[in-house]
Amino acid sequence: MNSQRRPDGSLRHLLSIEDLTRPELEALLERSQHYVRRLGEGAPHSQALAGRTVANMFTEPSTRTRVSFELAAKRLGAEVVNLEVQLSSRVKGESILDTVFTLESLHVDMFVLRDSEVGVPALVAANVAPHVSVLSAGEAHVSHPTQGLLDALTVLQHKGRCDGLSIAIVGDIRHSRVARSACQAFSLLGTRDIRLIAPPSLMPAEGELAGAARETDIARGISGCDVVMMLRIQRERFADTAIPAGEDYFREYGLTRERLGLAKPDAIVMHPQPMNRGVEIESAVADGPQSVIRSQVSNGVAVRMAVLETIAR
Ligand code: CP
Repeated sequence: MNSQRRPDGSLRHLLSIEDLTRPELEALLERSQHYVRRLGEGAPHSQALAGRTVANMFTEPSTRTRVSFELAAKRLGAEVVNLEVQLSSRVKGESILDTVFTLESLHVDMFVLRDSEVGVPALVAANVAPHVSVLSAGEAHVSHPTQGLLDALTVLQHKGRCDGLSIAIVGDIRHSRVARSACQAFSLLGTRDIRLIAPPSLMPAEGELAGAARETDIARGISGCDVVMMLRIQRERFADTAIPAGEDYFREYGLTRERLGLAKPDAIVMHPQPMNRGVEIESAVADGPQSVIRSQVSNGVAVRMAVLETIAR
């Protein structure tokens, strides 16, 4: 049995997009779109999670994911606990599982976890009580499933489809959980032309993201693309000093208006954020008419509402 499913095959946890079926992914996106409309109309919030308690446990920094999971849970009627891990008994040596068991004793039903270590969400999911669910909010460089969902939703809103599109992902792909989850979502939805654009040292290892093309020259890579997704260099994940810094990186890989002109005229620009303006992207592009970066953030709440509601059944 898959580690994120109940014995009847339904989703109990969300640890990765990888084993979702296309109908499951489409159902989550359709439900997300429902919540986009409801939130836009100022409709009354749902009570789908009334009586449930959601705990956010983030051992890595976050602005968008943590806040949007909190808003999503509250808008579904749940109680929310935000554990300040650096002020918790974890710093006194308590293990992640003992912390989780403590919160379970306090009747937490759903854990939202972000951790820099590979395998933590699966470890917790394998050890919680049968009625408890675990949602990954970012697992090391491996997976960020709700980001992949909101990226796919954003493309669907602006392009109407994912199949037949050319999608360029530019930057630090080697260390990017966003790139991995987004590629899984786009591929499942039928995108065949995914281009990974990075210096050789920031490309994923051979064999990873096998269906995508690789290109070290940004001008060649983004030519004719429908979607250009920019990524931050995740310097917190490596010590390699061979990566060009700041202005040098921008000169080789930064997205400028001029470079964006090589993509299709109606291409959209995405970035999961946080972004480093003047390093991977020029402000005129980040804030320009082709940017959908703020839509990505807004979609985060609707996607997380859809995921929480689906898993809570
Ligand atoms: N995109 C994203 O995961 O942002 P945060 O790190 O701010 O949550």
